[in-house]
Amino acid sequence: MHPMLNIAVRAARSAGTVISRAFEQQDRIEVNTKGTHDFVTNIDNNAEQAIIDTIKKSYPKHTIISEECGEIKGEDNDYQWVIDPLDGTTNFVKGIPHFCVSIALKVKGKLDQAVIYDPMRGELFTASRGKGAQLNGFRIRVKQHKELDGTILATGFPFKQKQHTDAYMNMFKTLFMKTADMRRAGSAALDLAYVAAGRVDGFFELGLKPWDTAAGELLVIEAGGLVTDLSGGHNHIASGNIVAASARLLKEIVQDIRPHLTHNLK
Ligand code: IPD
Ligand code: CA
Ligand code: CA
Repeated sequence: MHPMLNIAVRAARSAGTVISRAFEQQDRIEVNTKGTHDFVTNIDNNAEQAIIDTIKKSYPKHTIISEECGEIKGEDNDYQWVIDPLDGTTNFVKGIPHFCVSIALKVKGKLDQAVIYDPMRGELFTASRGKGAQLNGFRIRVKQHKELDGTILATGFPFKQKQHTDAYMNMFKTLFMKTADMRRAGSAALDLAYVAAGRVDGFFELGLKPWDTAAGELLVIEAGGLVTDLSGGHNHIASGNIVAASARLLKEIVQDIRPHLTHNLK
C-alpha cells in the first residue's frame, strides 16, 4: 500500500472509531445548524481533529482542506488533503446507520489517493492513482451498463438549493422513467463508492462540495468509470454538479439531463 494511503486509512479508521462510539450514545451528540437544512455536530469536529492529528503527525508540511475547519495552508502546497470527516451527518443525527469518512490526497492538483470508510459496516474503500480501487482489499469495478434500462441510479435531492427543485425533478423524472429504480441514501461519498463497487450503476447530484466528491471521484475512475459535470464536461469540482457512471451509461444520463439544464446549471 502507498505510504500516504496507509496514513489516510489510519486517519479514516480513527475518525470512524470516534463516530461509531458516538452513534451508540445519541444523547451525547450536540447538533448545531450551520446553514439552511445543514447540520453539524460535535462529532463532525472530533472526527475531523482525529484525522488532522494523524495526517499532521506524518506530513506536517502538507495542506489540509477540511469541511469544518476550512483550509490549513501547509509549507508544501503540492500536497493537499481534502477531507469530509463525516459525510451523511443528517443520517447520523437521525440515527440512520449510513454515513462515512472521506479522505482524498491531491498531488499537484491531481487526485492521487482516496479512502472512504463506513464505520458501521466496517467497509473500507481505497484507491491509488493508476492502481485500481478496492473494497476491504478486494478489487472493485464499475458496472459496464450500456443503457439505462434495468439500472439503479443513486442521487441526492437539492435540499440546500431548493431553487433547483423543478429542474432537478425534471431530470429525475426523465431518468426514473428509463431506469429500474433510484436510491437517495444520504451520503454522496458512499454513493460514489457504491458506483465504484458496482452496487449502483450511476450517480448524479447538484450542489456538492469538493470534500463530498474528491475521494469518491478517484474511486470511480480507478474502478473504470467516469465522473463529469451535468453536461459531460470537467467543471464538476467548481460547480458541484456531478454525474458518475460507466462511460456508456454516463453518455445516456447526460443526454437525458441536458434538456432540463437551466441557465444556472449549465
Ligand atoms: C451531505 C451528504 C448528502 C448530500 C449533501 C451533502 P454532509 O454531506 O453527502 O448525501 O446530499 O449535499 O452535503 O453535510 O453530511 O457532510
Ligand atoms: Ca459531505
Ligand atoms: Ca460532512
